[in-house]
Amino acid sequence: MHFEQRTVTCGKLRPEHAGQQVVLNGWVNARRDYGGIIFLDIRDRDGVTQAVVDTSHRADLGEQIREVRSEYVIWVKGAVRMRENPNPNISTGLIEILADDIGVINPADVTPFEIVDDLGTNEELRLTYRYLDLRRPILQKNFFTRNKLSQITHRFFEEEGFVEIETPVLTKSTPEGARDFLVPSRINKGRFYALPQSPQLFKQLLMVSGFDKYMQIVKCFRDEDLRADRQPEFTQIDVEMSFITQEDILGLTERFIKKAWKEILDYDVTVPFLRMPFKEALERYGSDKPDLRYGLELTNVTEIARSSSFTVFSESVASGNVVMALNAKGCATFSRKQIDELGEHAKKYGAKGLPWLKVSGSEVTGSFVKLVNDAERDELLTAMNAVDGDLLLFFPGEWERACTVAGALRTEVAKRTGVLASVAGTYSFHWVTEFPLLEYSEEESRWIARHHPFTAPMIDDVALLSVDPTHARAIAHDLVINGYEAAGGSVRIHTNDVQTKMFDLLGFEREDADAKFGFLLNALRFGAPPHGGIAFGFDRLVMLLCGTDNIRDVIAFPKTTSGLSLMDGCPSDVDAQQLTNLGIALSKL
Ligand code: AMO
Repeated sequence: MHFEQRTVTCGKLRPEHAGQQVVLNGWVNARRDYGGIIFLDIRDRDGVTQAVVDTSHRADLGEQIREVRSEYVIWVKGAVRMRENPNPNISTGLIEILADDIGVINPADVTPFEIVDDLGTNEELRLTYRYLDLRRPILQKNFFTRNKLSQITHRFFEEEGFVEIETPVLTKSTPEGARDFLVPSRINKGRFYALPQSPQLFKQLLMVSGFDKYMQIVKCFRDEDLRADRQPEFTQIDVEMSFITQEDILGLTERFIKKAWKEILDYDVTVPFLRMPFKEALERYGSDKPDLRYGLELTNVTEIARSSSFTVFSESVASGNVVMALNAKGCATFSRKQIDELGEHAKKYGAKGLPWLKVSGSEVTGSFVKLVNDAERDELLTAMNAVDGDLLLFFPGEWERACTVAGALRTEVAKRTGVLASVAGTYSFHWVTEFPLLEYSEEESRWIARHHPFTAPMIDDVALLSVDPTHARAIAHDLVINGYEAAGGSVRIHTNDVQTKMFDLLGFEREDADAKFGFLLNALRFGAPPHGGIAFGFDRLVMLLCGTDNIRDVIAFPKTTSGLSLMDGCPSDVDAQQLTNLGIALSKL
């Protein structure tokens, strides 16, 4: 089909172009028909320009575009002129094109939803027609930010002396952490590759090879439960360095984040970032990734609760547990229903109940106020700096669980009271460090590595490995931005004997460790340099830079939280023949 090729894109024309003859190509964004005069807004990725079909100027054009509707692909030729009614909301709002000629390049069916920024349509429909959803300028903008971050990343790491090396996508299954996505091998029937959860082992091997400073923008795959900030396939900026200490990794990260925020948002990030040990983060904020843009700190009231006449408290402490507390500032106005909702929220995180007190004027009410004497009640109020209007929430339980539930309620209260909305557009960057090396997995009934099994213990805690490994801390670091874990990494174990000991601690039989990780253990025998690194969640950085809390807004073709791609319908059934070729038989599901 003939079309006149554009001479300019739809976001470029300004008053200084008035009088110029131009051609635009694009989609019809809107059509406004006033009989003899028809306005067509033409959109491409660069913007929107108004074209005017004036039948007193070209009598036949009106008929020619009678059928033209939204989302038709058209070309328009004409002269730029100043508008009588400027539109201050768009960059081309001072001018318009008086059409001399116009042509349809491709008609369009009526789209299932309007291509506008403030769209009420549900996300499922948008994801089914994702290619149309992606026409919306608000989403397109995110991908330009994503591209910009990618360019900045390559430039930054190049200038810092890093080399980008690609690592395999078909790898060995070594599940530690999330579950692997498996890929059957046709040539080696009954055997499987795994898609990499991260290039962790490969980047360590590249250090053994002597590449010294490696980086890669890389796809990772994890078969885990999805959330608003998690996708089964996502992108990391993966980084590894040799002959370094943890300080070098933190310093490099801070320089990178500073540069990215400056170049993309013109925002001056203050470095170095605050550092907070894991224990402190949990005790004060109830999370290993706390949002520090607001306070709402927790209080540990275990000592007061120890001798409480409220047996839920005293029995919890007697059994070695704690009582954490949150002062929900100003929430005494919450109704019983609202408090019950908070209780339901706490239950989702594993709480059995949610004891509470309310301070209204000189009166203190609450779920257990009649069970404690005035002195104990006042002691709790004082410890929590409670004043008129406060709602106090209590979390008895095992320390980490109690802190985590309290932390979840801290976030919920911040949402419900508008505290979170009040800090929108601001940023807080900090490190969480000194993570426990190990954590107990109830599911597997064994100790597992909190970060991954290749993370080195802190020098001070090496001796603990033989006597009390549960208290050993790791040389690990998470970068937290606005309550999101934006990056995580560690200094690695670089000797064969410590790595072997680590696998012992994790309950691997020697043969099992050899079968799974023999290649790494071998590599560590041949002169591995001390090394460490970090991986940034690339999508999460883009989310933060775009100001969205939905990771799907920054991934072109994302999966739903059930792991589905609604557009192409995957995962899908496959032909019986394909399964036979792979030597796979399906059991009844
Ligand atoms: P980790 O597992 O902490 O570390 O991952 C690094 C960062 O990747 C991001 N991330 C995700 N983003 C979106 N969807 C997901 N499902 C998802 N899972 C993780 C997070 C996280 O901080 N190999 C180590 C890094 C290292 O030790 O160097 C690793 O993968 O932002």
